[in-house]
Amino acid sequence: MRPLIAGNWKMNGVVASLAQVSTVASRIADEAPPADVLICPPFTLLANAVATSAGRIAIGGQDCHALPSGAFTGDISAEMLADAGASAVIVGHSERRQQHGESDAMVAAKVRAAWRAELLPILCVGETEVEHDGGYAADVVTAQLDGSLPTGASALTIVVAYEPIWAIGSGRTPTADQIARMHALIRAWLETALGREGSDVRVLYGGSVRPANARAILALPNVNGVLVGGASLVAQDFLEIARSVPSGR
Ligand code: PGA
Repeated sequence: MRPLIAGNWKMNGVVASLAQVSTVASRIADEAPPADVLICPPFTLLANAVATSAGRIAIGGQDCHALPSGAFTGDISAEMLADAGASAVIVGHSERRQQHGESDAMVAAKVRAAWRAELLPILCVGETEVEHDGGYAADVVTAQLDGSLPTGASALTIVVAYEPIWAIGSGRTPTADQIARMHALIRAWLETALGREGSDVRVLYGGSVRPANARAILALPNVNGVLVGGASLVAQDFLEIARSVPSGR
């Protein structure tokens, strides 16, 4: 299974930031790490990022609407992302779930929208700090998978990202054991839901991934890549994370 190193720029980046895309794309083309590399810039930079990367890395969106078009001021459809040259889209990020009130059902509809537009959806799940401290993390993540991953997924058509909300942007990461246990739980869920295909779905870890901890996280069982926020804004840091993929995975 080829790991995926994905960068989520969130609401950061202006035209000048395309230099970061250019640096990452050319280094990745030269170094050819054993991983797929994806950058998800804000919508305003998407088409330019696609042109700048020239196919050397993948470019994705950070969200999409469930419908292909219509009277939805400010929204962007999966078809529009594909039209701009995106090949993937993040759906169900905790910042969307929390700040935009996205339910599991809405996230499931966005996964289906991504499929309709032939984009690879990266479905985010993860518990809050209160849920974590209360010992409910497994229940929360299982419920999110039940509610937001529609039937019909295969190893090539879904990526799951486990992002404990308390680890996002906080500089705190779960212990190696906590990450491994949650990824094993997600793997077991996927194998129950998808059968053999579930063994080959990539499950990413996200939340305060940095060059200093990427190698250890990427070496854990059932961790098939990372979803990187803050550290993806600095080309050298993001490249260092891409270089942390163990060879032969
Ligand atoms: P972070 O964000 O790497 O800045 O913690 C991760 C994410 O939200 O995808």
